[in-house]
Amino acid sequence: MKILITGGSGLLGGKIAELAQARGDEVFSGYAHNAPVFGKAVKFDLLDWPGISETIMRLKPEIIIHSAALTDVDRCERERELAYKINVEGTRIISEASKKAGSFLIYISTDYIFDGSRGRYKEGDDPHPLNYYGLTKLLGEGFCDGCIARSSVLYGSRPASGKVNFALWIINSLRSNQTIHVVTDQFITPTLNSSLAAMVLEVGERQLNGTYHLAGASRISRYDFARTVARMLDLDLSLISPCRMEDMKWAAKRPMDSSLDTAKAAKQLEEKPLSTEQAMQRLKREWI
Ligand SMILES: NC(=O)c1ccc[n+]([C@@H]2O[C@H](COP(=O)([O-])OP(=O)(O)OC[C@H]3O[C@@H](n4cnc5c(N)ncnc54)[C@H](OP(=O)(O)O)[C@@H]3O)[C@@H](O)[C@H]2O)c1
Repeated sequence: MKILITGGSGLLGGKIAELAQARGDEVFSGYAHNAPVFGKAVKFDLLDWPGISETIMRLKPEIIIHSAALTDVDRCERERELAYKINVEGTRIISEASKKAGSFLIYISTDYIFDGSRGRYKEGDDPHPLNYYGLTKLLGEGFCDGCIARSSVLYGSRPASGKVNFALWIINSLRSNQTIHVVTDQFITPTLNSSLAAMVLEVGERQLNGTYHLAGASRISRYDFARTVARMLDLDLSLISPCRMEDMKWAAKRPMDSSLDTAKAAKQLEEKPLSTEQAMQRLKREWI
């Protein structure tokens, strides 16, 4: 299959490109600043709207996986105009070009479209974002007539797009004997990038329309997740210090419990959402 991945240098996009290339797909990896490792690198800046349309019409991919976004939640809060241009307008242009090119569009969205007052959100639950990042991602969903794949706190074995992810931050800090402060009152469904990448590729292959919660299968606090990571990698648990969300100096509000219910994906997909323990076992294997 011919696949265009936006954000091919990112934590998720890079892993999708790696898996798709390994199984023989023709992969084009879009990027803005950091050259992707897998797939054919294609400059694809979400601020260059004529360039987006031109690239999609030239490549005419069977599948477009739109993973690129301004993902820094606090930056989106401070730089709203930029966040709107990238996450909303960029997505609108991709969606329009995708329809013209006859491509199947998968839009990667987020648990942050929910306010976190309840948790274990199902696909049909009402969105109510607490921050600007969540709002821009929700507005982006409105343009997509293919598949909307929502996920939650991604992690993986390698840095991507010049950034360290949540699990790597925990591992690197504990390995260098640094104490870390992790919130006990924020609940998530952390998601291993390779697990999500495999689910997204299956959705693309089967051209499944509609909304799917593609995330880890375990609802867990960030603090307990950090302890699970430490326990499974034989790291020093005493370096993990509990704190509360109110102690954090965040520019953007965060939902308290944005965990996603992944029952639909577990029922319909061959690639099942993984529990935290299953995902950590896989992460350990990927490390080697
Ligand atoms: N990370 C999470 O915890 C999380 C949770 C739920 C949902 N999501 C969603 O999942 C998707 C992937 O997230 P991720 O963590 O893999 O992202 P990431 O590692 O932060 O990477 C972001 C990607 O977006 C690209 N990008 C940023 N600005 C761009 C621009 N102006 N034009 C084109 N590309 C641009 C980056 O390209 P360069 O490297 O070239 O700048 C990079 O490839 C996003 O849509 C995000 O909203 C993420």
